[in-house]
Amino acid sequence: MTTCARLESPAADGAGLRHCLLAAARSMSEHPQDHGWRDIYSGLANAINEEPESLMVLVNSIPGVQDLAPAYIIGLIAISLQQLWHSNGRGEDPAYRRLPGDEIIGLATEYRSELSSILAKYRNSFTGVRRFLVPQVLLAKHFARYGGELVNILDIGTGIGILPRQLDSQACFERFAGDLIWPAESPVFAKIGIGDRFGIELDPIPDLAWVHGCYGPSEYYDRLFQEMRDTLAIPEVRAASFSFISQDARDLPGLARLIADKNVSAVTAAYSLYQYSPPVRQAIGAAIHRSLPRGGIFIDIEPHPALDQPGCLVEAWIGGVDDKLTICVVSDGHFRGSVTAATDYDRFTRTWP
Ligand SMILES: C[S@@+](CC[C@H](N)C(=O)[O-])C[C@H]1O[C@@H](n2cnc3c(N)ncnc32)[C@H](O)[C@@H]1O
Repeated sequence: MTTCARLESPAADGAGLRHCLLAAARSMSEHPQDHGWRDIYSGLANAINEEPESLMVLVNSIPGVQDLAPAYIIGLIAISLQQLWHSNGRGEDPAYRRLPGDEIIGLATEYRSELSSILAKYRNSFTGVRRFLVPQVLLAKHFARYGGELVNILDIGTGIGILPRQLDSQACFERFAGDLIWPAESPVFAKIGIGDRFGIELDPIPDLAWVHGCYGPSEYYDRLFQEMRDTLAIPEVRAASFSFISQDARDLPGLARLIADKNVSAVTAAYSLYQYSPPVRQAIGAAIHRSLPRGGIFIDIEPHPALDQPGCLVEAWIGGVDDKLTICVVSDGHFRGSVTAATDYDRFTRTWP
């Protein structure tokens, strides 16, 4: 029997998948924070438990579903249902803004084909405006050791490409830095010295409207989305040149070619790879690591231990250095909270190389 001890690992088979989705929905409905999704996750758990057929049809319309983490699937199903609830007008009454749990099965049955096409096309593209803070500090520290040359950066699963455009913006850093507490003194803004900025995304590249739909139905997320709009209007962010590349990070030779062709020496990924199984994530990490020039760096930020908890883990691979560095844990995936040093934090920030 599938145990689903770890919600970030895909289930083994079809029957196991339903069991794992139920465990994931229950666990996510107990997330320590409720920013608008809790009742929907709880409604999903009830629906999967009591009348799973209509939901499992939707689940099976997600491409490559067997390779995806159950917590990720639940998040994406919740987003698609909530978006449909809103777009067909039923969520416009503020009292019913959030999809009520007892409407889930009816909605999933009545709008099966609309929901299936949403799920076949889109991913969870929630995008955070504070996530660049940690790469900004770590990359500036790292590249200060090598002196001088401009750094071309590639962001994996870039969403609307906000993180690469925020990097090296002092205005953006100062707007958000106060919300994140670091282990010792607060870092002051230091430039990385970014050259070209690239981001890869799956086709179709998400637009701002889809990203908005991935925010939860709550005032908390309304404020976060307003911050996203404000960030996009910061002159340095608007002016930053940035190229979208429509490419799948699982195409490992393609990834290696891209890093070489664009002379990339810094790669970032934030909340992009957690949805895949550990071997897939590891293969992507290893391919990037092998492709980096000596002294290049890949920073990967993923939910920790899984999406049903608020925090995330920051790891780094350095070109020419064998071991992966475990740098820090951030207490909250929206980066309003604290950074706790992990095993290699001091080694990386103070004494490296
Ligand atoms: C949750 S969003 C995170 C966006 C942004 N990195 C952030 O942290 O705010 C994850 C993004 O990764 C993209 N993604 C997922 N798998 C991918 C893949 N194999 N190749 C490229 N992009 C991928 C998704 O389409 C989605 O937009």
